[in-house]
Amino acid sequence: MTENAQTIVEFRNVNFQIGAAKILDDLNLQIEQGETLILLGESGCGKTTTLKLINRLIEPTAGEVFVEGKSTMDWDAIKLRRKIGYVLQEAGLFPHFSVERNVALVPSLENWDEAKKRKRVLEMLELVGLSPQKFAKRFPHELSGGQRQRIGVARALAANPSILLLDEPFGALDPITRMNLQKEFAALVKNLSKTTIFVTHDLREAILLGTRIALMEKGRIILLETPENFVESSQPLARAYLETISAMAKQRDSATNNTN
Ligand SMILES: Nc1ncnc2c1ncn2[C@@H]1O[C@H](COP(=O)(O)OP(=O)(O)OP(=O)(O)O)[C@@H](O)[C@H]1O
Ligand SMILES: [Mg+2]
Repeated sequence: MTENAQTIVEFRNVNFQIGAAKILDDLNLQIEQGETLILLGESGCGKTTTLKLINRLIEPTAGEVFVEGKSTMDWDAIKLRRKIGYVLQEAGLFPHFSVERNVALVPSLENWDEAKKRKRVLEMLELVGLSPQKFAKRFPHELSGGQRQRIGVARALAANPSILLLDEPFGALDPITRMNLQKEFAALVKNLSKTTIFVTHDLREAILLGTRIALMEKGRIILLETPENFVESSQPLARAYLETISAMAKQRDSATNNTN
């Protein structure tokens, strides 16, 4: 990060509570222009909740979230959401809309003309590796889980938003498609200099895509590091994640040795 980097998203002393349950506990975080900030952590630690505070699908019970310097409570919620691409954990497509209409959702709301919209849909489908001829007219129930996820990514990118929120966007994909999309995605984000907040359980994905990794536990950020420093960290939960990778390598080695 450069000294004059611009902060695009900021959490200042943010709490989120449901009844007596503290879901997020004093979250402080600054995300700079062009960053890919990874939220990494176990199921239930508060990753999705953190994303939803950025586009004001939920509102903090204390503290403030700023987007481009303005508190989300001062933003018009609709305007805020249109400038932020959001890939939901379960793709979140409209079941009664075709693939084409789903991808063109924000461009339609923004009244793009038909030709421009159509061109953009084709580009986005190509980008996520789904042939427009084959898929544009289908409905979400006619797709596999991984295809639905890819349409979710295409939809989030369609209106060229400056901020992207991605909630485990590649979770349902086979490893090869996943790797291809990760690579495409890394190049895309870098070239277009988007500010991205990306949720994953997968440390490899975090290391590949992140400029920084925020490790969360029970509604708190317990470590915030570049991938280079994360892999050297002595923080116990970070070590546990790193061991999942080395344990896999060891298992593979011993399996290979056993067959020799
Ligand atoms: N509407 C709700 N009512 C009560 N508890 C909720 C609600 N929404 C979320 N929670 C709780 O808040 C905590 C954080 O949820 P969140 O969805 O942010 O987790 P997550 O880190 O995204 O998990 P996962 O990796 O499983 O998607 C969880 O314990 C969840 O049960
Ligand atoms: Mg989640």
